[in-house]
Amino acid sequence: MARYLITSALPYINGVKHLGNLAGSMLPADVHARFRRMQGHEVLFICATDEHGTPAELAAAELGVSPRAYCDQFHDIQRKAGEGFGLSFDWFGRTSNPPNHRLTQHLAEALEGNRLLEERTTRQVYSNADKRFLPDRYVEGTCPFCFYENARGDQCDNCGALLDPVQLKNPRSKISGSSDVELRDTAHLFLLQSKMQEQIRAWVDRAEGWPSLARSIAYKWLDEGLIDRSITRDLAWGVKVTKDGAPRQGFDDKVFYVWFDAPIGYIGATVEWAEGKGGNWERWWRTDKGAADVTYVQFMGKDNVAFHTVSFPVTIIGSGEPWKLVDRLKAFNWVTWYGDKFSTSQRRGVFMDQALELLPGDYWRWYLMANAPESSDAAFTWEQFKDTINADLANVLGNFVNRIMKFAETKMGGVVPMEGEPGPLENELYEDLEERLARISDFHDQMEFRKAAAETRSLWVRGNEYLQLAAPWTALKTDPVRAAMVVRTGLNLCALFAATAFPFIPESAQAIRDGLGLKGDPAWPLGAKLFELVSPGAPIAVPPVLFRKIEDADVAAWSERFGGG
Ligand code: 2FM
Ligand code: ZN
Repeated sequence: MARYLITSALPYINGVKHLGNLAGSMLPADVHARFRRMQGHEVLFICATDEHGTPAELAAAELGVSPRAYCDQFHDIQRKAGEGFGLSFDWFGRTSNPPNHRLTQHLAEALEGNRLLEERTTRQVYSNADKRFLPDRYVEGTCPFCFYENARGDQCDNCGALLDPVQLKNPRSKISGSSDVELRDTAHLFLLQSKMQEQIRAWVDRAEGWPSLARSIAYKWLDEGLIDRSITRDLAWGVKVTKDGAPRQGFDDKVFYVWFDAPIGYIGATVEWAEGKGGNWERWWRTDKGAADVTYVQFMGKDNVAFHTVSFPVTIIGSGEPWKLVDRLKAFNWVTWYGDKFSTSQRRGVFMDQALELLPGDYWRWYLMANAPESSDAAFTWEQFKDTINADLANVLGNFVNRIMKFAETKMGGVVPMEGEPGPLENELYEDLEERLARISDFHDQMEFRKAAAETRSLWVRGNEYLQLAAPWTALKTDPVRAAMVVRTGLNLCALFAATAFPFIPESAQAIRDGLGLKGDPAWPLGAKLFELVSPGAPIAVPPVLFRKIEDADVAAWSERFGGG
């Protein structure tokens, strides 16, 4: 038994997350966590809401509530949505909670102790109307690159360029709209990443278990040369800046930059878990306290890779303390909405709460993993959604389970039949199943979700082919003992299919297992006796329809409501 610490990138607090956010980190992390648990490993699966920064402050201001109240509300909304999708976090924490604040201050002080933090005077946009500095998104203006007039201080939504607020032409305050702004000097803390260049490169060189997408992003940053970055901002909502445990002079109106404290939130949320559940967080995070044998796996969208392969490692390696570093990292491209960006601010796409209004979480889980944006971006379309669900879940898995269980109910007295011994057809099936299962396991192990889903589906197809060939409905008339054995084999296949489905579609897998009278979560069937998963004589009950077919009328109605097509 090994130990896996699994984290999903922490979703920003502002707004309900869309299907792209789900597919790019939380969902694959959940699939992997489930797979590792099924293998019998000890898993700690951590996520949290990323609550600081200008987006949260601005969203709260727009609603006329405090950032704290806003974050309370949206943390709850996001937690419920996660539950609706069956995300099996061991803890869903908050970066605004005290453990993350304490750890962030602690790590900054450790960095300062190692001469990796430095106070520098910088020019910032100051609003005379608002009587404050305007960080990041608090300034809007014209993009210096593409001349888009509504570029934000941190990024231009039109050309995608990353910006410093002082680069904007015709800057104006997002708060008051006033253009009465000027550049003023003020102090900020800089993380001296340039000093860590060689150490980080050596660590990346050693890192195994990163896919090429992650490696190439890390090397791109390293090749360009790590630059010293300001890790404080002129904001009220965030982690206060300290020195020697006391408020830092001159930093009363400043907090740490959200990207400095967010990844520390992985540790903070683990501390919350330990406090809430009575666990030992150091066993997962401190290599001097038992975490050396932990495999730490991170999941994220490609835009997060640099922060996880360079910036966060600078923080934790630079602290000089024995923190656990990421071992395996899985990064995703984008799920697009018919080729366009999903957009929280423009409400383009389907959001997690809306998706659950239409269909149970499993439908979305399956679609998003079967079409995971691994080697390239993947476009969501209603048409493909319909095709995937109907072809894989309704026609292959649902149909198989329904057919064999109904047959057992009506023709075999509603129990797993006891009679008969497997013949050549079953022996051949058995060998084939073992090979296929090993392949599925390998794909899960390599975190190749699309391939794992495709191979899982093809296992289900193989079951349908077997049933077609073995034809218990015909055998029943001529050889009832054989028919009984085929039905028993079919019911074993149901149990096997439920187990392989479980990482992807846990609720449906559970419904199949309920019908077979199987208790608890399934174990990964590799090495198990595949034809002894159900007990002869055990009562069975046909589950309610597992998957409904998606009709053209659904596609039409949903396209009308959400766009697309
Ligand atoms: O891109 C995002 O959604 C960020 N909130 C991810 C943060 S990951 C971690 F570092 F907190
Ligand atoms: Zn631009």
